[in-house]
Amino acid sequence: MSDTDRIDWRNREHWKGGVVVVTGASSGIGRETALAFARQGCLVLVAARREDRLRELVERCREWSPDSSHLAGDLGRRDFAEQLIEVAVRRYGRLDVLVNNAATPCHESIYEIDVDTAERVMRVNFFSCLWTTFAAMPHMLRLGGGHVVNVSSFASRLVPPYETLYAASKCAMNGFTEGLWNDLAGSGIHASLVLPGPFETEIWGKLQRPSRYAGRRHPPSLVVDCIFECIEKRLHERVVPRRDPMLTLARWVRLLAPGLARKGAARMDPFDPEALEAARARALSSLPGGPESS
Ligand SMILES: NC(=O)c1ccc[n+]([C@@H]2O[C@H](COP(=O)([O-])OP(=O)(O)OC[C@H]3O[C@@H](n4cnc5c(N)ncnc54)[C@H](OP(=O)(O)O)[C@@H]3O)[C@@H](O)[C@H]2O)c1
Repeated sequence: MSDTDRIDWRNREHWKGGVVVVTGASSGIGRETALAFARQGCLVLVAARREDRLRELVERCREWSPDSSHLAGDLGRRDFAEQLIEVAVRRYGRLDVLVNNAATPCHESIYEIDVDTAERVMRVNFFSCLWTTFAAMPHMLRLGGGHVVNVSSFASRLVPPYETLYAASKCAMNGFTEGLWNDLAGSGIHASLVLPGPFETEIWGKLQRPSRYAGRRHPPSLVVDCIFECIEKRLHERVVPRRDPMLTLARWVRLLAPGLARKGAARMDPFDPEALEAARARALSSLPGGPESS
């Protein structure tokens, strides 16, 4: 495959030799996505922080795609996000597909989140996607096209309690991707937005406070199918699972009766009034005019 040969992305049987970057591939959805692209014969470059996990994944990918490789680093840093794209092009001569999947959860009371944590969530979950996309665009333009698939969350459509920062980062990703649909028209570069509901991955174990969600968690392979479908059919946006009754109901209630949706979401994990009292007491004692300042 030369560095400008065109690949027919409308049929996964013809994806062999395509170059794919997957962020957040050391576990969960990203890992499954990388394996699936490797099975199609794509050259996969995977990124995340845990290098041991990436090494093990690349070993697996090489069963189908011997030149697959990894780059370990922190996607909350712009220099690493840009380096990832440069390394893909230097190693493989081209970049066809960019899957922005890395994310850190943030499930915490707004009173307990400090501004540094908030900024970090935005950097990892949103800015990394912006940085990689900006770095990838010239290479995709040179190639005559490409695919950017951004993995968002259904939590950006109906924000559950304690998910404010996480949802904000995903809403930014949604707006960025929707803008790309307009701005990239005619370039050959296609942007897709994938909005997963609850999936069985290790992200649930990383939450600052336990989630009260007790419903079904789906297998990550469904998100992989969705990503593949977005590429083959050049879809703009897809919620996954597509016909999940709870997600469908939530979307309609959010649209038609936002007040009801808000109450329903709040009931999932009722807010603790003691947390408000504690935050108020901290504010009173720390701000000018409070007891400690006299
Ligand atoms: N699972 C769900 O229910 C669900 C629902 C909606 C949306 N999603 C979205 O699906 C995507 C994948 O999540 P998942 O469920 O598969 O969770 P996961 O298993 O926790 O995977 C998250 C990935 O992001 C990487 N990552 C986190 N912080 C990073 C950083 N600073 N730099 C580089 N990589 C970083 C992690 O690797 P390292 O820790 O090794 O860096 C890991 O590979 C995320 O965008 C998530 O928001 C998931």
